[in-house]
Amino acid sequence: MLGARLRARFLTLAPVAFVVAGCGSKQDALEPRSGAAHGISSLWWNMLIGSALAFGVVAAILIGAWFRRHREGVPGVRDGDRAAFVVVVALGVVVPILVISALFFYGDIFLVRQTAVPTENAAAADKPRLTIRVIAHQFWWEVRYPGTAAVTANEIHFPVATPVQVLLSSDDVIHSFWFPQLNKKQDVLPDQTNRLLLYADRVGRYRGQCAEFCGLQHAHMSMYAFAEPDADFRAWLAAQSKPASGTGSGGTSLFVSKCGSCHTIRGTEASGDVGPDLTHVGSRTSLAAATIPNTRERMRAWIDDPQAVKPGNQMPKVDLTSAQLAELVRYLEARK
Ligand code: CUA
Repeated sequence: MLGARLRARFLTLAPVAFVVAGCGSKQDALEPRSGAAHGISSLWWNMLIGSALAFGVVAAILIGAWFRRHREGVPGVRDGDRAAFVVVVALGVVVPILVISALFFYGDIFLVRQTAVPTENAAAADKPRLTIRVIAHQFWWEVRYPGTAAVTANEIHFPVATPVQVLLSSDDVIHSFWFPQLNKKQDVLPDQTNRLLLYADRVGRYRGQCAEFCGLQHAHMSMYAFAEPDADFRAWLAAQSKPASGTGSGGTSLFVSKCGSCHTIRGTEASGDVGPDLTHVGSRTSLAAATIPNTRERMRAWIDDPQAVKPGNQMPKVDLTSAQLAELVRYLEARK
């Protein structure tokens, strides 16, 4: 009896354990860190439990019928067998309609609430206190802080426990902005601005991912969001708003001539807008849309042959001697 119960429990939980293990800890919709993400997580669990119960009842009846058929031969429904008729109608028609309708209306009402635009009808506590503009590109995220000169890429910093409005648009095709622990997915379109509320109830680094197929490197179009104490965020924003310092070195002219038509370093003549703004690239934790850590070796490999690291991305291989490559890496590392 106990064995059967344990076995049943394992069979119910095995698919859940598989899903949870597959998601990892940094990008996990079942480990919500905001009210909106909690709502989505509850919706998922309630749908799973409701569907599992309905499936369980159907499976139990099927198994029961199979055993009965083997014990008693093929049973025909005899005329006037009222009990059989009631069971078929109740469990085959009434219960499925009730369960599926309940789940449908629950999901529908939730979705309507969840898709409300953040600034309208928001309670005072939910009114955004900061606006961030995110522009999607194949295959990276440009991040701007309106009212400041700060421009960064693939790493969003924002104050913890503070509602933040994110204005989303695309420079090319349709992308989708998604931090599973913080909120729903939001389509990012080339011809309109969509809004999403970003909120994290605790300090931490959250992983996000483009959730709309947008080309060869779609799966590696990732990003990080750093929820920080307000003072840390203000200090970070002030530093990012400044132009690069110490740009008088030889590295500057090398960067301007080799990389400056695609990338910007504020305070130098490099002012390209094809790839990320690299004014403070040395302060980032990752490179190449959060796919590699920002270390000397990985940066060198990335610049040396971008197509080997991320095939199909838009960064060309630039002709560099090994001395030039080393100088560029040193120069970029110093852009804190
Ligand atoms: Cu951008 Cu998928």
